[in-house]
Amino acid sequence: MNFVVRELSDLAPVHGALVALSRVNSAHVDIEAEARLPHARFWVASPTSDDEPVAYVLVWLVGDEIEIIDVATAVTQRRRGAARALLSTLLDAYGSAGRKAAFLEVRAGNVAAIGLYLGLGFERTRVRRGYYSNGEDAHEMYLALPRVSVSPQRTEHAANAPSVTASNGAKP
Ligand SMILES: CC(C)(COP(=O)(O)OP(=O)(O)OC[C@H]1O[C@@H](n2cnc3c(N)ncnc32)[C@H](O)[C@@H]1OP(=O)(O)O)[C@@H](O)C(=O)NCCC(=O)NCCS
Repeated sequence: MNFVVRELSDLAPVHGALVALSRVNSAHVDIEAEARLPHARFWVASPTSDDEPVAYVLVWLVGDEIEIIDVATAVTQRRRGAARALLSTLLDAYGSAGRKAAFLEVRAGNVAAIGLYLGLGFERTRVRRGYYSNGEDAHEMYLALPRVSVSPQRTEHAANAPSVTASNGAKP
């Protein structure tokens, strides 16, 4: 399945969808608070440019790296490649723009997210024991940019285009 992936310059038109997506994750990201941060960036994926986002990523720009703060796909839209298309596109965009690495923390028991990140080329760098308030460990994951082994997705980049179309990278 193909997705239109874009970085949001204005959150207002998709605010409701973003709030809903942010509540998918137990972290319950505060969209308004994040939107006020100068280093926060929001990216979304939609089936077409007319559709509401079905997945979003919140990124922080940290020096010459990026931190993936939150990733979520609507429950009814999972396992269709939305998160992979979204992350592939933004990782390649930031790599091309000169960012040196991406990093994140994920719950040790979050099999879906860890599978997603490993598939994109992230490596586990450290386990932080009892990191979360329920005692669960965190896995720190790291990916050098630009990515050297590009996933089998097909991405169409147009100069200065506000959005790109990315496939889910699934093999035919
Ligand atoms: C993790 C999450 C974002 C994945 O979104 P998604 O759009 O369904 O993911 P994709 O369809 O792009 O899947 C890409 C790959 O991730 C892995 N993956 C995704 N869901 C998985 C699952 N339920 N179990 C195992 N692996 C899974 C697979 O490797 C998959 O590739 P495949 O389908 O070819 O096997 C989604 O499950 C979600 O929103 N979870 C709740 C929020 C969350 O935990 N966010 C992460 C915070 S760190």
